[in-house]
Amino acid sequence: MQIILDELGRLETETVRQIAEAGTLETLEELRVGVLGKKGRLTAILRGLKDLTVDQKRDVGGRANQLKTKLEDLIVSRREELMGASSEAGLIDITLPGRPLRYGHRHLVTVVMDQIIDIFQRMGFEIADGPDIETDYYNFSALNFPPDHPARDEQDTFYVEGDRLLRTHTSGVQVREFEKRRPPVKIIAPGLVFRNEAVNTRAHCVFHQVEGFYVDTDVSFSDLKGVLEAFVYEFFGPGVEMRYRPSFFPFTEPSAEVDIRCFLCGGKGCQVCKHEGWLEILGSGMIDPAVFKNVGYDSERVSGFAFGMGVERTAMLRYQVNDIRLLFENDIRFIRQIR
Ligand code: PHE
Repeated sequence: MQIILDELGRLETETVRQIAEAGTLETLEELRVGVLGKKGRLTAILRGLKDLTVDQKRDVGGRANQLKTKLEDLIVSRREELMGASSEAGLIDITLPGRPLRYGHRHLVTVVMDQIIDIFQRMGFEIADGPDIETDYYNFSALNFPPDHPARDEQDTFYVEGDRLLRTHTSGVQVREFEKRRPPVKIIAPGLVFRNEAVNTRAHCVFHQVEGFYVDTDVSFSDLKGVLEAFVYEFFGPGVEMRYRPSFFPFTEPSAEVDIRCFLCGGKGCQVCKHEGWLEILGSGMIDPAVFKNVGYDSERVSGFAFGMGVERTAMLRYQVNDIRLLFENDIRFIRQIR
């Protein structure tokens, strides 16, 4: 048996060296066949095991199998080395022109969000933000929502736990900022909002809003109109039709919604504008004295307006996107079309 073990030892030293020295894939393959092949040296040694006792067979067999695995591994890595070397040596044509890399770019929603922010910044608005997970107080109570208001229903609002919820609008940031500052306050607050709603061509359960609010000693409804009209002119360009519709929000009085002529159908009526020819982009109004009271502002001395704009809607109108879902699906064929 010792003779066999010695032979295995010799075979190992020799083969390990030969593998390292093999200069081509062909030599390496010949080497492999010569040792591990059906008629190879290691195979021949294993054949000689038949004359040994069971115990001896186990010892020598185990040793031989170890050696087999070791040599196989070495051959595989040497083969990889040789293949790499041969491609460096000429398989790659380094004179071919390179393949151009496609650059990534910002998502349409981010682009539009930045455009909106930029326009309001130029009108003197500061930027603030608030948490996506809000408390009932900031999202509803402080904004004068009565306890039984339908928006508080679980069918409309995603509750997290206790009185925590995913904010349904960015208006809670008004309250947070009013608590921190004294008028004049002139702020926009961009961010994500969440609503427990069915998804369709014009509405999604997650979307972005830009909240804006301005409080000072004599802010009037015509200031609100001036700011919104300046925005629409800057963002959509001259000649875009907009209209105010009387509306209701618990935290503004009076309230108005702003519609833009539906660009997708040119006002003729389509799925996105629900065949009305107009698409609502924002809610707005004069801040209700009840809100001022909750934050300790004197509504006899100060007044203010607020608005909340839907970013996806605005993007859809501006870039003629006919389904809001395209803005969330991240289909690269869509994303690449609009930079
Ligand atoms: N928060 C309202 C909404 O999401 C929009 C709004 C903001 C209305 C500010 C009035 C004032 O629908």
